[in-house]
Amino acid sequence: MADGPIDLRTDVAHPARMYAYFLGGKDHYAADRAAAEQALQEFPAVRVAARTNRDFMAHATRFLVGQGVRQFLDIGTGIPTEQSPNLHQVAQAGAPEARVVYVDNDPIVLAHARALLVSSREGRTAYVQADATDPAAILAAPELLRTLDLTQPVAVSLFALLHFVPGDVYEMVKALMEPLAPGSYLAISHVTTDFDEGPQDPDGMMRLVQVYIDRSIAVHPRSRAEVARFFDGLELLEPGVEVIHRWRNDGIEHPPSRDKQVSLWGAIGRKTHAAGTGR
Ligand SMILES: C[S@@+](CC[C@H](N)C(=O)[O-])C[C@H]1O[C@@H](n2cnc3c(N)ncnc32)[C@H](O)[C@@H]1O
Repeated sequence: MADGPIDLRTDVAHPARMYAYFLGGKDHYAADRAAAEQALQEFPAVRVAARTNRDFMAHATRFLVGQGVRQFLDIGTGIPTEQSPNLHQVAQAGAPEARVVYVDNDPIVLAHARALLVSSREGRTAYVQADATDPAAILAAPELLRTLDLTQPVAVSLFALLHFVPGDVYEMVKALMEPLAPGSYLAISHVTTDFDEGPQDPDGMMRLVQVYIDRSIAVHPRSRAEVARFFDGLELLEPGVEVIHRWRNDGIEHPPSRDKQVSLWGAIGRKTHAAGTGR
């Protein structure tokens, strides 16, 4: 973790702090609250979307623990939440020996990382301050190498992250997965405008996206097919790319209107081949 003073840039809105506001957390500043309040006006379901995303993180993590995964690399972690368990708490509830490395590029997450580092006695957690656009730096970080054994499977989770990341995100995901052992997993949730009824839909996700864009925070929604592309070369698990609250949640009834309120695709894939032979 970085030494020295942290510049939180409290004068401008940050996605991590707006997300904390939507979830009912307390780590946000006036600029974040103003942006988040406007987001609530433009897309009133944003709190439903944020909470459902958090639920999917827990649901997917429990699923991965059930698959035998004991190592997790969570990129774009966000500020630790008190309203719902963080990823290591979910993983270690199922497997106390689970090891979790968290990564985020926002200094506010670094400032709160201590809450992420309270591991079970049997397991371990670490925090790496890094940018998702540099997978090589993430995989070579000393904290990561002290925590994860990269000869064994790792579940890489990118929940509500990729729509914020600039550049060739497909190459980035490929570079993250390529060196990992067979049996590793990729779990994603991703914002979409697939449920918008046209570009000017007054209730559409694009209105929320525009609130970020107006504040110079680039957001790139993707279609179901574009999200599926992240899993090229991996075995995409059933049911494939699905709205996150429906992903392996067959027992629970949801009104169709919920899909549009959530507007996040989710999927999990498994790496079946060795490092360096595809990805
Ligand atoms: C909406 S939050 C999602 C938090 C958490 N993954 C979840 O699903 O509950 C997105 C997070 O991604 C982080 N983020 C955005 N761009 C990033 C980048 N290029 N590298 C690393 N983290 C990034 C933000 O700082 C923020 O904490």
